[in-house]
Amino acid sequence: MVDAAGPGCGTIGAVTPEQVTMLRSEAGREALAAAATLVDTDRLAAVERLRRGGRSPELAAAALGQARLRQRAAVKFGAGADRLLFTDDGLQQATRPAVAARRARRLAAAGTDRVVDLCCGIGSDAIAFARAGLRVTAVDADPGTAAVAAANAETLGLADRIEVVVGDAAAVHRELPAGGAVFCDPARRAGGRRVFDPAAYSPPWEFLLSLTGGPACLKLGPGIDHALLPAGVEAEWVSVRGEVVEAALWCGPLAGVPRRATVLTGTPAGTPVEAAELTGDGTREAPVGPLRRYLYEPDGAVLRAHLVAELAEAIGGSIGEPGVGYLYTDAEVATPFARGYEIEEVLPYSVKRLRAALRARDVGVVTIKKRGIALDPDALRRSLKPSGAGAATVLVTRIAGAPTALLAHPLPAPPGGA
Ligand SMILES: C[S@@+](CC[C@H](N)C(=O)[O-])C[C@H]1O[C@@H](n2cnc3c(N)ncnc32)[C@H](O)[C@@H]1O
Repeated sequence: MVDAAGPGCGTIGAVTPEQVTMLRSEAGREALAAAATLVDTDRLAAVERLRRGGRSPELAAAALGQARLRQRAAVKFGAGADRLLFTDDGLQQATRPAVAARRARRLAAAGTDRVVDLCCGIGSDAIAFARAGLRVTAVDADPGTAAVAAANAETLGLADRIEVVVGDAAAVHRELPAGGAVFCDPARRAGGRRVFDPAAYSPPWEFLLSLTGGPACLKLGPGIDHALLPAGVEAEWVSVRGEVVEAALWCGPLAGVPRRATVLTGTPAGTPVEAAELTGDGTREAPVGPLRRYLYEPDGAVLRAHLVAELAEAIGGSIGEPGVGYLYTDAEVATPFARGYEIEEVLPYSVKRLRAALRARDVGVVTIKKRGIALDPDALRRSLKPSGAGAATVLVTRIAGAPTALLAHPLPAPPGGA
């Protein structure tokens, strides 16, 4: 590992390079194995147990900390989490392996053979790049996080393809020879909380913008404002089983289309995925039409990418009012880009009428969804006091200017769907 910087940027729940070295020693591996059996034990008792046999308090605490991180990491990394080291911040910010693998395959397919990962964290993206056959320079300002990335690369047998550098992204980027592509996934957490303002990213937005002229991929928060996106970049929103997990800007020769929604379905952590993509320019308006028998609620990636019009075209749908992204169709359609409902009853929106309708249908379990209307679903559910044996979905929206409640049932998800 190369050290090109002084002190790092100081992450929360940090791990030091010394702890990484300690955990990778034989005694460290034994302590980790022992700690894995104690993750659900009270912390003090677990540390006490680990200290028996002469382990230092530092080793016992570090091993238990890692064992607990690995347990949490299993949600994102699957069984593979047990081989990796993490930091608290690094785990929270790490790209899901399925998303990282997809990005890496796209870079490799574009002919890239070398990538500089300017904010590598614990190395989830860097590992995916290396697995896709790319040579990786992985940079992180935090020495402990960089040490974790280097340890993970070594554990996975990828150390010959991943060189880890401790340093500031901007400084390292200035010094590295040109060639290959740049990937940057800036820190979007500060003081243990998420930051939403790109100016508060680390490195900041200004630096990220300086990368957009060349072959670069930038990972951003899904809430990024379209108005901030420079002309000529591709903005891709990615969702995993219905949750929008990131926006990625593909820059320079890597840009394909103005806007892309990528929907990954059927993805238990760490396993292969089904993916579907919808593309467009993100500026079209969907046609407005009457209420029809089926309602399709676009996936968050489609909504964020402003591709509702493209989805409307693909499924023969229309919206009920400009700017309100529920799509209506006459026929049932199989699409990975939306969740479908069959509408059973249409009511002008009124709590009293809705309560009566639910009572008449003996509905006790209500799922409330809303679009284009300001209401608090929990407060509405409390006012409805549902108490029957059945279940229903209520979608509250505006149709041709009128607040409307739709009683519906969800259509079965398409095979492999969310
Ligand atoms: C969002 S995480 C990267 C996660 C990584 N892509 C993964 O999937 O594991 C951002 C990382 O950037 C690092 N960082 C923040 N500011 C930096 C800077 N100016 N230069 C280099 N690294 C920086 C943080 O220490 C953190 O580890």
